[in-house]
Amino acid sequence: MRFRSRHIISFEKLESNFKKLKSICINNKIIFMVKANAYGHGVIPIVRHSVEKLGITEFGCASLGEALLLREELYDLEFEIYVFSDVQVELRECAEIYLNRRIVPVISNREDLDFILTNREFENFPLFIKFNTGMNRLGLEMSSVDEVIKSLKIAGRKSVYHLMTHLSSSSMPIKTNKRNLLQFENFEKIKKSFKDANIEVEASSISNSGAIEQGAGLLETHVRPGLMMYGPSSLLPQYSQLSQWTGEIISKLETYVISLFDVEKGQPVGYGATPCPSAGRVAIIALGYGDGFSTRYLGAHLYHRDIAGKIVGRVNMDMAQVFFSSDNLPELKVGDTFTVWNHSVESFSEFCQDVKIIPYEVFINLTQRVPKIYS
Ligand SMILES: Cc1ncc(COP(=O)(O)O)c(C=O)c1O
Repeated sequence: MRFRSRHIISFEKLESNFKKLKSICINNKIIFMVKANAYGHGVIPIVRHSVEKLGITEFGCASLGEALLLREELYDLEFEIYVFSDVQVELRECAEIYLNRRIVPVISNREDLDFILTNREFENFPLFIKFNTGMNRLGLEMSSVDEVIKSLKIAGRKSVYHLMTHLSSSSMPIKTNKRNLLQFENFEKIKKSFKDANIEVEASSISNSGAIEQGAGLLETHVRPGLMMYGPSSLLPQYSQLSQWTGEIISKLETYVISLFDVEKGQPVGYGATPCPSAGRVAIIALGYGDGFSTRYLGAHLYHRDIAGKIVGRVNMDMAQVFFSSDNLPELKVGDTFTVWNHSVESFSEFCQDVKIIPYEVFINLTQRVPKIYS
């Protein structure tokens, strides 16, 4: 565990992002995606705050284990949980959890659908159904819509609790990208088939962050934001002008300078004896791959009070070297706090682009060695 390397998460920023989200999705209900430990931000405090202070009542997890953790830790709160991918409804112990703990699996294949429709215990269980409209990952096939409807009718079902699909390319333009247009069109066709068959669709959703940022899919009852709630835009940098998102990163990643020394041009530093690009100063910071500060972060720019440094040499298990050129040295002493990212979307995006890792993964990489502090 670290003392001075900390992932500081601001509830105030989360709230401000939520307000900004609501100003885009004025009429939509929110399913807040909190998979993978709330994208690395700590799912229990994030969900508690979201229910108690933001009034969010629906959350999306990836696995039943994640959902159960939420139910057990937050037993005092009222909220709905949906399991999106690792569903395992056919396992007896999992089926019991769904039946008894108010957790709803998202049905994405025929086996799970048939299991729920033919199992009497699930007779009154809400159906949350996902169709594959072109992402080709999870989801009932478009071609099976009629059969699905037939099965629902045979089972005496008159409604579906939630019908959804997921976009493969929402980080690209929604209005011009052919794949996005086709997925929206396909989803309309599926909804029409349900309507024509008199199966009521109580709720529906299509948009995750990329689509919401572009104002798309807002005629459905729900939206399913994940990344944007934590701050970053999920549009590819070349399409950033299409995004109306003005959120802020809800966290800061802070560490401190363990050691500081001057270097000559070409002087080797650290494992692999990487030569320094010019004369300057190297700060050793207290973050390494054991903390989730990946070896792939080599070459990334980090700033100390607007002065750019660069990660040189191999990132170690518990440290990394940040090089500053002698042309522009920051005022930095041993023991000073060093901020890897703050609340600025621009600098966080630059970091992600430098390291060629999507923001989702940068957040999630951080390990438990870096304590999370909630402010
Ligand atoms: C089905 C589904 N909906 C919504 C989301 C949220 O996506 P994003 O974080 O890009 O907003 C995810 C994320 O993985 C997802 O799988």
